[in-house]
Amino acid sequence: MGAFDGHRLVGSVRGNVDGDRMEVARLFVAPDQQGRGIGRLLLDEAVNAAPAGVDVLWLFTGAQSQENIRLYESAGFERVSERVDGLGITLVTLERKVI
Ligand SMILES: CC(C)(COP(=O)(O)OP(=O)(O)OC[C@H]1O[C@@H](n2cnc3c(N)ncnc32)[C@H](O)[C@@H]1OP(=O)(O)O)[C@@H](O)C(=O)NCCC(=O)NCCS
Repeated sequence: MGAFDGHRLVGSVRGNVDGDRMEVARLFVAPDQQGRGIGRLLLDEAVNAAPAGVDVLWLFTGAQSQENIRLYESAGFERVSERVDGLGITLVTLERKVI
């Protein structure tokens, strides 16, 4: 789903459903539009758009991305695990239940 300012796409997010779990992926807001609440809105919309049968939402981000982690935690996500990717970057996975 996307966020538009007129015809301009200023943000987007994807939901990848796999059984009873949905990954919230590729949350992005155009750099000149960040910090205006668009990311939070898109995240809330993705959570609310989870189809019937999905019980758990999950996502991952860089363990150093403290602003991102704060956004996700304020939306009810909790850290569940960490892993190091092929480039040596520590990634943290967060989850929340669908209410
Ligand atoms: C992360 C991102 C989607 C947040 O979107 P945003 O529209 O800037 O966020 P909002 O204005 O809705 O702010 C909500 C929270 O996001 C967090 N945040 C993360 N990045 C931020 C940024 N660059 N500017 C402002 N807030 C940011 C803050 O914690 C903020 O909380 P606050 O309102 O209590 O200060 C956006 O900064 C972005 O696209 N970043 C680059 C891509 C990226 O990192 N995507 C996430 C992949 S896991």
